[in-house]
Amino acid sequence: MTAPNLLRALRGERLDAPPLWLMRQAGRYLPEYRALRAKAGGFWAMASDPVLASEVTLQPVRRFGLDAAILFSDILVAPYALGQDVAFHEGQGPVLGPVPPSLDFDLSRIDFVYDTIRRVRDALPADKALIGFAGGPWTLACYMLSGRGGDFMPARAAAWRGEIGPLMAALVETTAGHLVEQARVGADALQIFESWAGLCPDVPRWVVEPTRAVVERVRAAAPDTPIIGFPRGLTQGWATYAQTTGVDALGLDERVDAAWAAEHLQPRWPVQGNLDPACLLAGGRALDAEVRRIRAALSGGPFVFNLGHGVHKHTPPEHIHALISVLRGV
Ligand code: CP3
Repeated sequence: MTAPNLLRALRGERLDAPPLWLMRQAGRYLPEYRALRAKAGGFWAMASDPVLASEVTLQPVRRFGLDAAILFSDILVAPYALGQDVAFHEGQGPVLGPVPPSLDFDLSRIDFVYDTIRRVRDALPADKALIGFAGGPWTLACYMLSGRGGDFMPARAAAWRGEIGPLMAALVETTAGHLVEQARVGADALQIFESWAGLCPDVPRWVVEPTRAVVERVRAAAPDTPIIGFPRGLTQGWATYAQTTGVDALGLDERVDAAWAAEHLQPRWPVQGNLDPACLLAGGRALDAEVRRIRAALSGGPFVFNLGHGVHKHTPPEHIHALISVLRGV
């Protein structure tokens, strides 16, 4: 049997029909997600229950026939494994407690993640890939030091002061351990979400080098599992990031010009992206034109169609059906 299309593309193959998945494909824009979330009582209750989390992981794959499932979990399970309190409050996003004094991680605190992966892999057809993920160390430090989303001033100032070394070292080990375990129990590919790379005052030191260390550890333990790096918001240095970290493929945000990426990145790395989530929210003729433009720009090399960031919660599910018909040319 041939490998799932997502894995073929991530290993460098050009496919006539690019594989498709969407960041935040499981979420509040889906009525079946909202129904299960109401029953569970909230996001964390759902994410930490392997039966519910595996069901939610499969929902968008069933509804849209996407090429991959992404584990339903959150990047903030890593701070939780490090002993930090993490809470998700309705309507205000994540809130974290103080950074714990000792930075020893304990992956058994997040065994529910690995149970979820086993369940999803058992239920998923063989031609669909399962993507595991983790936050990049810098993005995790942003949340851990600031306690919540926003402009992350506490974390950015601590980075300018040069005070984040010990935390970053602990996050490299935690992230690597978490990714290795996901591959071991059944994840077919891994994505590193460095969502706040664009806010980092020293990208080579606090984004590229820690990610390189993570990739090195994961590669040693899981050499056959492709890794997608997603350094969102970089204004330059995409090739340096890929070259130095050793990731297999690059996830592009919507600010990267697809034609530029085809010329400068895709000859060396498979690329993934990068439809603006606001365009998917808009729908209609703009959506048709953008899907065609991005597909035309990137179909000459190894390519995975995706958004530049997560599906917005007000997106009508029909817009995803429309995206798929344009992409597949039907
Ligand atoms: O992509 C998927 O479908 C898989 C699941 C997934 C979630 N979070 C579920 C989630 C993934 C891959 C993430 C990653 C994540 N989490 C990132 C990196 C990607 C990105 O968006 O930049 C970040 C920064 C987080 C931290 C986080 N978790 C925030 C900022 C929020 C609140 C945002 C919001 O939409 O309310 C969460 C909560 C969260 N994680 C939700 C989901 C579906 C919303 C929960 C809900 O209210 O139902």
